[in-house]
Order: sequence, then structure tokens, then C-alpha cells
Amino acid sequence: MDSQAEDIRAVYHLTMAFNGTQAVRAIAMMSVAEHLADGPLPAGEIARREQCDPRATRRLLRAGVALGLLGYDADTTEFRSTPALQVLHKDNDSSLKYYAQSAGIPALWYPAARLPEAVRTGKPQAEEAVGMSLFEYLRRHPDQAREFGMGMSGVSAPVIRLAADHIEPGAARTVVDVGGAEGAFAAELLARHARLTGTVLELAPMAPRVAAEAERRGLAGRLGAEVGDFFTAVPPGDLYLLKFVLHNWDDEECVRILSTIRAAMPAGARLFVVEMVADDDRIPVGLAYMDLAMLAGLGGEERTLTEYDRLFERAGLERTGTRELLEPYACLEVQARSTDPDPTR
Ligand SMILES: C[S@@+](CC[C@H](N)C(=O)[O-])C[C@H]1O[C@@H](n2cnc3c(N)ncnc32)[C@H](O)[C@@H]1O
Repeated sequence: MDSQAEDIRAVYHLTMAFNGTQAVRAIAMMSVAEHLADGPLPAGEIARREQCDPRATRRLLRAGVALGLLGYDADTTEFRSTPALQVLHKDNDSSLKYYAQSAGIPALWYPAARLPEAVRTGKPQAEEAVGMSLFEYLRRHPDQAREFGMGMSGVSAPVIRLAADHIEPGAARTVVDVGGAEGAFAAELLARHARLTGTVLELAPMAPRVAAEAERRGLAGRLGAEVGDFFTAVPPGDLYLLKFVLHNWDDEECVRILSTIRAAMPAGARLFVVEMVADDDRIPVGLAYMDLAMLAGLGGEERTLTEYDRLFERAGLERTGTRELLEPYACLEVQARSTDPDPTR
């Protein structure tokens, strides 16, 4: 193939990639990974179990083969699992099943279709697309909030494990996971350090998910939810966790969240911020996709270390440690600035 034909094919694939997103989502929703866990099956059997149209199911699974998620045996006409498909199995401890399902919810998917408007105006498009913000949408759709929470735990699992490796609690006793969804990050720390107890500060729809996660991990009684608003108040604690939260918000909103945490922090408390860290010299596709999702959907952004430092400084905080996790993620250790009085007092 000449180089122009290669370019045409590459751009064509990029243009049509939205079908890939929906194929992965449909494969996750039809539990194909779970059905194929015990061995190959014909499309008709998966269609029967899932009460789907047999021919349409076959076409979806054939797309799964093209995308590298499934194998196919033309002699037996059976589809088989692959290591990539296992990532969509609900029991995988880093499962992307619920993240893939959540990627298609209207409050994420419809604003993404308005990316050109977001670029033109510099404004997120959730209001225009679904009439409300993502988090208001989740409040009104508890089933989708549940899936979103499970999706966050799954996509976070590898990053959380690495971040927890770097957090030495010392004399700390209490952890506050601010906007912690199901509380997977706090749960990981509590599972490793028996002296710790934890609170997940979350919006109302997520509270039952925290209880479920605590129960599932044998942490009932040590990990609980507090329903609240991180723009208003957070509970006192020795260790604060703030993971994948700041990137949802614009600079002014980030400073408000950080200032609320700063106001609650007792002397010696530490804050651990986990985010993707942008670097203009090297832009991973995952970071670029997430940044565009923030642009179109929420009004947040993926920031550089310098940009994070500016936010910390404005909230009376300073970065005292930096650990690179899986690229491009980092865990930033932050403390109250010794020279600054609490900015809210
Ligand atoms: C992108 S998720 C990150 C969840 C979790 N920290 C993680 O990394 O898996 C952002 C979370 O912030 C929560 N949230 C949004 N607005 C909030 C508010 N005003 N107060 C408390 N939590 C909020 C959402 O419910 C959601 O679970």
C-alpha cells in the first residue's frame, strides 16, 4: 500500500472509531467475556442467553474479532475469548466492563458529539446536550450512577494499587476520600493498614455504593460514606485523597475544592492528589482523549505539574512530593503551606 493509501485508511479508521466505542460497550453489556469464560460458543448461543437478535449478535461478535477482542473458528463457527476480552470480565480486578458501559451514557456521549462547539466557545456542552451537568444527570439516574461508580473503581484499580505503595500513613488514623465514588482508593489503604478508618465524601447517589464496596472488601465498620459537597465542607482527617476529581473542574472550581480541604486539614495532615499529568513534549493518546472528554463534557482539563502547583499555591497548599505511577498518572503529595495562613479564615 502506498503511503497516501495508508494515510487514508488511518484517517478513515479514526473517523469511524465511534463505532468501536459502541461495539466495546455492547460487548460489555452483553457479558460476552463472561459467556465465553468457559469456552468457545456460537453467536446464536450468546444471542439466546442475552435475548438478542442472532444475526445482529453475530455481526457484533465479528466486529469484536476485527477489534482484537475475540477469536473465531470458521470450522466450528464458534467465537472464543482472548486476553483482551478478559479485561471486560466483571470479575477481573481491573475490569473495564462498567467503564465501557458508562462511556456511552447520554451525559458523556452526547456532549462528545458537540466537541466542535466546545472548541469554538471554550465551554462544556453537557447543558446543551442533555440539559444538565454530568453529576446532576447521575443524581437523576441512580442506575447509571451505580455503573459509573463501578466503572471508576475498575479503571482506577491499577493506579490505586501503585499510589497506595507510596503512601506511608505513619501516625495517621483517618482517611478522607474526597469525591471518592465507591471509595476504592480509601479501601485499598484501609486494607493495607489496619489502624486506618475512612470516610468517603460523596454526592448522595454514590453513598450506597461505598457501603457495598466496604462490605465486599471486608471493611464494613471501618469505611463509610458522608453525603456532602466538596465545594462547601469536607470532614477532618489525617490523610486526604483526591483522585480524578480536579481534572473535572476549571481552575476557579479547583481552587474552591482545594481551599475547602485546606480549611478542614488539621496540622500535619497530608493530601494525595492522583491525576494524569500533562507534558507538552509527550502526549499519550489516553490523556488526549480524557482531556477532550473534559473539554466537551465537564469544563475541566488535564494539567501540567506547573499548572497543578499554581492551583495548590492559590489554595494555601504546596506540593511536597511527586511519584510517577503508570504513565501519565502521578501521585502528588500536598501539605498546607507553612508560610500561609488558612486562606478561608
Ligand atoms: C471522576 S469521579 C472520581 C471518583 C474517584 N475519586 C475515582 O478516582 O475513582 C468524580 C467524583 O466526584 C463526585 N462529585 C462530584 N461533585 C461533587 C461534589 N460537589 N461533592 C462531592 N463529590 C462530588 C462524583 O460523584 C464522582 O464520584
